[in-house]
Amino acid sequence: MDQAERLRELMAEHAEAKNEARIIAISSGKGGVGKTNFTINTAIALADLGKKVTIIDADLGLANVDVLTGVMSKHNFMEVLSGDVEAKELVTEGPKGIQIVSGGSGISGLVDIDDLELERLILALSYFNATSDYIIIDTGAGISKSVMSFVGAASELIVVLNPDPTSITDAYALIKNIENPEEKTIQLVINRVESAQEGKEAFEKISSTVQKFLDIEVENLGYIFEDHNLGKAVKKTSPVMIEYPRSISSKAIERIARKIDEGEGKQEEKKSFFGFLKRLTKKT
Ligand SMILES: Nc1ncnc2c1ncn2[C@@H]1O[C@H](COP(=O)(O)OP(=O)(O)OP(=O)(O)O)[C@@H](O)[C@H]1O
Ligand SMILES: [Mg+2]
Repeated sequence: MDQAERLRELMAEHAEAKNEARIIAISSGKGGVGKTNFTINTAIALADLGKKVTIIDADLGLANVDVLTGVMSKHNFMEVLSGDVEAKELVTEGPKGIQIVSGGSGISGLVDIDDLELERLILALSYFNATSDYIIIDTGAGISKSVMSFVGAASELIVVLNPDPTSITDAYALIKNIENPEEKTIQLVINRVESAQEGKEAFEKISSTVQKFLDIEVENLGYIFEDHNLGKAVKKTSPVMIEYPRSISSKAIERIARKIDEGEGKQEEKKSFFGFLKRLTKKT
């Protein structure tokens, strides 16, 4: 039996999912644009809308989800593959009941896993699929293999960028490297803008370039203003949505979360957990 068949069989056994999560990858072309803060605060805003959210921290960098929420994970995803821990044990509870899961180094190696590891991976992801409305993956920046494996697997991608020219160029490079982009919903968030006009100009610049050279449509999710409260919250290792819920960045993130949630209808057919697994493990 080839691995694709095996995957199908395992899915049938484990993923009789009554609940299907929307799986959203958060990425950026260059580092430091605000992905991790966006991920956490959007998760909190979705939780405020009554949604169950799991964050998978697949970024191998330093200032990761753990640090920005002040909670430390005991275990990471790689320990699940080796059979040492169960999916449930991976979860650290973050603010507003968000489930935070640390990817751990090596999560990029999912492409060449054996049958036993595949089964454990499916079991673990099925658990999160069944217990969440949203699985949000902080993929890290750039076009490395590990980043692109999650970007490629998720049917929904949010690219975070800043309005400066290098950030725009790097975001374009990321979008250019996506496999089968026409099968995905690609949405942009412009972070750290000084005015709505600046955000609008940045969006128009990148969307017209993407349209012209790649023939891809990208959607505008919104702009987040430069906000010193966000930096202050980071210093307290706490999300801005918790520390300063009325700040200008929190309000923008709330609007963006509502927009994401309203997009649910047209995502219905894309919420295929099987498709996600197939792409993640490259079993076709
Ligand atoms: N809207 C904002 N206003 C002010 N400062 C911001 C804003 N967004 C992000 N920052 C600042 O940028 C820093 C980096 O943010 P964050 O760690 O979320 O970026 P990242 O894209 O996840 O970085 P990396 O690529 O290293 O993982 C934050 O610590 C914060 O100081
Ligand atoms: Mg980060």
